[in-house]
Amino acid sequence: MLPEIDRILISRDEINERVSAMGKQLSADLSEAVREDGHDPLAHPDRVVMVPILTGAMVFAADLIRAMPMKLSLRLVTVSSYPGQSTESKGAAMRSALPPDLADRHVVLIDDILDTGSTLRLVSDLVSEQSPASIRTCVLLDKPDRRTHDVACDYRGFSIPDEFVVGYGLDYDGFYRNLPDIVALKPDAFA
Ligand code: IMP
Ligand code: MG
Repeated sequence: MLPEIDRILISRDEINERVSAMGKQLSADLSEAVREDGHDPLAHPDRVVMVPILTGAMVFAADLIRAMPMKLSLRLVTVSSYPGQSTESKGAAMRSALPPDLADRHVVLIDDILDTGSTLRLVSDLVSEQSPASIRTCVLLDKPDRRTHDVACDYRGFSIPDEFVVGYGLDYDGFYRNLPDIVALKPDAFA
């Protein structure tokens, strides 16, 4: 274990179990939506688009999509809100172009954590402009006490208190994304 880790908040086993359940739930709901459109969810191409918000969502999204036994495609967007050695959101900004082909598709926005809500608000407003068939939001972690933007959270893995966490994709200053558990850092790990 890295010396700067204070304690494990959510273990890799708890994460795996929860992410598998979320994948099952999402594919059941999306398959139903595709059937309501009059299509076969196992066959019809490109009705469902998963949009991981990078960089934080990459680990979560990689596990989540493998728990979804249905036809889907991926589009990536990059948003930054915590430049460098910061644990306070500086407001979200797009760092990549939005995929241009979301009209009439079921879009699922995936993020590692829902904090103030500025990231999901920004991306979901931009996606709405393309008139998708639906937009769902899916996050591994939710800090409900920190919300300053109105955002619907359709799928959440765990609600956590207002504490800065890293691991399983979440970083501090670019590090710790590779940790398999969600952990809290010791105070001296923060510059
Ligand atoms: P929001 O835009 O304020 O909702 O923040 C969402 C983004 O902030 C997430 O995608 C994370 O990258 C980052 N973030 C929020 N809380 C944490 C945390 O506790 N650890 C690491 N990153 C966080
Ligand atoms: Mg992030």
